[in-house]
Amino acid sequence: MRQALIIGNWKMNGNLAENDELLNTISKSYDSNDEIEVVVCPPSIYMAQISQQLLNSKIKYGAQNVSANRNGAFTGEVSTAMLHDLGCSYVLLGHSERRCLNHESDEQIADKFSAAVQAEITPVLCVGETLTQRQSKETFLVIAEQISIIIEEVGIKGFEHAVIAYEPIWAIGTGETASPEQAQAVHAQIRRQLAEHDLNISKNIQVIYGGSVNADNAKALFAQQDVDGALVGGSSLNADDFLNICKAYN
Ligand code: 13P
Repeated sequence: MRQALIIGNWKMNGNLAENDELLNTISKSYDSNDEIEVVVCPPSIYMAQISQQLLNSKIKYGAQNVSANRNGAFTGEVSTAMLHDLGCSYVLLGHSERRCLNHESDEQIADKFSAAVQAEITPVLCVGETLTQRQSKETFLVIAEQISIIIEEVGIKGFEHAVIAYEPIWAIGTGETASPEQAQAVHAQIRRQLAEHDLNISKNIQVIYGGSVNADNAKALFAQQDVDGALVGGSSLNADDFLNICKAYN
């Protein structure tokens, strides 16, 4: 039985006061709830604040990116060891905003994935197609390739303690979400691909959906057999919205 997982990706939002208020409200409501695993991903600069605030909380936290390098002359980068130091247990990798705006390649993402696995930080591999790719019926192909390259470089065992987030690019921040059926079809395809390499991993891995998830559409998405939770952007910045998405799982 896969545990439900809801991750809030704060992207480049928040400040000390806002983070404090948001987490206080979320943790008060969440800590009595064992069913769902909740993770927040703040900007790295606030990781120390978040680690202190969540010291006695079951809410976990993750980073939005990490370097593939161990340490050294990499100005502006953050290593897996640094994230580990602050008790960070997840890292988002291959988010489309990093693929598009920072030109991260599949190979770079695979290197980061490998670094995260070695540091025992759970990678959350984000995959997804553009609108043009969906319209040209390339969705499955694009996603299969994004996953294949990780399997080739890291090996299927790398997915033993990983999460996959299906985030169609056309649904991110647009208010337009994939239909539950569209999400289910892709999630099932992801599991079929993994099953070709390792049946247990394909059955146990959490595959979550991201792209304009809100309290209204979450329930129908979560009702799908292969949708194990959500990667939430905008709606994770408001405590009530985020909590309502968590409640939708129950
Ligand atoms: P929105 O929920 O704002 O569409 O963002 C989704 C996302 O990119 C989460 O990583």
